[in-house]
Formats: sequence, structure tokens, C-alpha cells
Amino acid sequence: MQDDVLLVHGGSPLEGEVRVKGAKNLVPKAMVAALLGEAPSRLRNVPEISDVRIVKGLLQLHGVAVREGEEPGELLMDPTQVEQANVADIDAHAGSSRIPILFCGPLLHRLGRAFIPDLGGCMIGDRPIDFHLSVLREFGAVITKRPEGLYIEAPNGLKGTKVSLPFPSVGATEQVLLAAVRAEGTTELSNAAVEPEIIDLICVLQKMGAIISVTTDRVIRITGVSKLVGYDHRALPDRLEAASWACAALATHGDIYVRGARQLDMMTFLNVFRQVGGAFSIEDEGIRFWHPGGPLNAIALETDVHPGFQTDWQQPLVVALTQATGLSIVHETVYERRLGFTSALNQMGATIQLYSECLGGTPCRFGQRNFQHSAVISGPAKLHATDLDIPDLRAGFSYLIAALAAEGTSRVTGIDLIERGYEDFQAKLEALGARVELPMRVAESVA
Ligand code: UD1
Repeated sequence: MQDDVLLVHGGSPLEGEVRVKGAKNLVPKAMVAALLGEAPSRLRNVPEISDVRIVKGLLQLHGVAVREGEEPGELLMDPTQVEQANVADIDAHAGSSRIPILFCGPLLHRLGRAFIPDLGGCMIGDRPIDFHLSVLREFGAVITKRPEGLYIEAPNGLKGTKVSLPFPSVGATEQVLLAAVRAEGTTELSNAAVEPEIIDLICVLQKMGAIISVTTDRVIRITGVSKLVGYDHRALPDRLEAASWACAALATHGDIYVRGARQLDMMTFLNVFRQVGGAFSIEDEGIRFWHPGGPLNAIALETDVHPGFQTDWQQPLVVALTQATGLSIVHETVYERRLGFTSALNQMGATIQLYSECLGGTPCRFGQRNFQHSAVISGPAKLHATDLDIPDLRAGFSYLIAALAAEGTSRVTGIDLIERGYEDFQAKLEALGARVELPMRVAESVA
């Protein structure tokens, strides 16, 4: 499809200012949480990305009135008329998003049953939902699998429980939160994920009337309440998008002020950015990132659950590491297939070798299972343009960074995937001086 292609003319630094809005990994979940309230909710700082559009549609299918507020990026959600949605409609609407699985708890509380279609999401690993289903069963849900998806019922309501996750999964932690807040009794979740977006979701739920405490040892305790009200919340900024722009500044020898970026959520990233040789300055309203000149440093890096180095930061940083002097090592411990995108970087002139061994000390589930989840990047490499086909959201943005850092014009297909998580990215790129264009426009200008 013509619209899904972008021509990227590389070789010039990105300079200027971009603004990040609310986090992609919080906003859709806060929207789902609105279903739990008995009064309308107001969410601010909402980005226009496809994951938000999908959840908006799913809420509307379930009778939630969703409209935009007066302020840009404000969403008003009225869940007072929640109703059962048609299975085929849910299926058609959910697209490739993984968010529908989080509708389970709220729908079971509101309607006693839920239907979850077959899930999509970025193909960066198997991405099973076994933790989700197992915790729902712990709460007393009964799950029936059919070809079109899962039918879930809670004939006796959801009851608080004690659960421990095999891995601190973000989605499964959110599943527990959204089910437990209105379950009968107390829930104790061990080995929970504590990403900033989860803490922000907890803030949303607390505003609604929930009782949730988070301890330093990854244990979350929730005392169920019988009723929740609406909330008014400003979503935390997108630290993953902010880091993507930071890496773009580094890889293109640029200078980008990311308005909205917040130090607290990015401390681990900032430490690594500094070790690589990037410069930043933290201001009240955002963070400025730039390449200070001179060579960049090779580093050893392992992705991990928060407060470790976020896996979504890995792909954009790898592009910047192709410009560092020496051998960098990256051990990806969250997703088993999040390094496949590097073969395209090699086509552009990078030297990246993948290994199935764990090249790092962080305990990981993939070393024994023969997944190529470690990388050695040898730099600096002179990148040249090529044809790129985007495999997943973060790799997609990383390809744009690589194409912008490269000499020549790259043809990037699959850019729709980037819209899942980067609001208005073409306009932002243009504002930073990037030369990007749709091939259609090229054809028109030639004619
Ligand atoms: C979320 C984020 C994603 C981020 C990831 C890890 C959203 C919309 N997406 O994804 O950007 O990269 O957290 O920070 O918030 N797993 C299982 N069984 C399950 C669930 C997960 O084995 O039932 C495994 C996964 O395969 C993966 C690991 O646990 O290896 C982490 O996944 P998880 O934290 O659940 O990721 P998501 O919530 O899908």
C-alpha cells in the first residue's frame, strides 16, 4: 500500500524540539480502567496513536460513551451504560492490539462475562497469555477456549487471591490490578512488574477509590472495594518515545529537546546514554539530548524489567551503538526475538553478530532455548541507504533512525506499525529537519 511507505533521505542531523504526550503503555490501560467506575472519567495528555483508537472503539462497543474534551488530548469516558458487545464486532475491531486481554477483569465485574479475541501485538517473541489466564482462574474465572477467542465467565464473582508471577510481566500485573480492585477480599501479588506505567495505573485506580500498596520487594497488595468512581488523570509522559528521540539525536549527530520527557522515569536510560557518550541536560519541562562531538563509547548492556534497562529502549539504542568505537554487547532478557531487526542494519553496513548464549550475568529464560538474544555490535560503521521493511513498532522507529543516519535514500515500508506508538511521527521528523516523504509526493513532484 502506497501510504505505508516512506522515503527517508539520510545524512543530516536531527535538530529542534519535539513533544511527547502520555505513555502508550499507560493510556490504553487507563482507558480500560474507566470501565470499572460507576461515573465518568477524564484522561488528559492522550496521544493520537492507533492503540488508543482501538481501545476507544472497544469501549464504545461495550456501551461506554467516549468523546474528546475541550483541551487537546483530553478524553471523556462515560461507563454508566455498559453492555455486552457483539463477538464478531470485538474481533473485527481489536486488530493486532494486545490490550483486549485487559478488558477481562472490568467486564467480569460489570457484566459477569467477557469475550477476548485472538491477540496480536508486535512479533518480538511468542507473547503467550498463560500468566493472564492463570491469574484470572485464581480469581475464580472460568475460561472456555473456542477458535474465535476466549469466553470468560465469573459465575460467583471474582474473589481476592494470593498469586505469584513466574516472571514480572507488565500485562499480567495489570491484569491482576484490574481484576483485584473490585474483587471480594484481599489480593497479594508477588513478583509483580513495577514499571512507571504500572505505578501510574495504580495512581488512576487509587483516584477511583481502590486500595493498593506497593512494597519494595515487588509485592502488590490490593484490598477489594465494592464500588469505584470515575477519575481525572493526566497520563505520565512516554519515556519510551522520549528515549527513541534521544537515540535519534545521538545516531544522527543531532540535538533534540524532548518536551515532556521526565528524568525520574528515565534514570536508567540516562545513565546508559551518558556512558555511551551522549550529552543531556534536564530542564523543568523536558530533556535536551545531543551528540557532543567526538567518538561514542562501546558498552555492555542488558535489558531487564524496571528498574533495569527497558527492552523498548534497546532497539533505538542499538542503532546508536553502531556508531560507537569498539565492541558493544547487548543481552536481551525480556523478549526472545527482539534482535532480529539487526539483520537489516547489517545490510546497511553495520556489523552485528547475534548469539544464542547469554552474553551477560542477568538470569534469563532464553539461553537454554537456543534463541538468538545476545548481540555484539562492532563500530563505528558507515551506514548506507537500503530498502527496509518494518517488523515491529520499536524496530520500525529504529529503522527510521538508521535511515536518517545513513548516506542516501532508504525506502521504508510498513510505517503504519510505527503509528501504533508514535503520534504524528512524520510531522515531528520534519520539524527536526529530517527529509522524509511519501513516494506519492515524489511521483507528483516529478510529473
Ligand atoms: C508490555 C509493553 C511492552 C514492553 C513489555 C515489557 C504494553 C502495551 N506493552 O508488554 O512495550 O516491551 O511490557 O516491558 O504495555 N509472558 C509470558 N506469559 C504471559 C505474559 C508474558 O510468558 O502471559 C512473557 C512474555 O513473553 C515476555 C515477558 O513475559 O517474554 C514480558 O512480557 P510482558 O511484560 O507481559 O509484556 P507486555 O505486557 O505484553
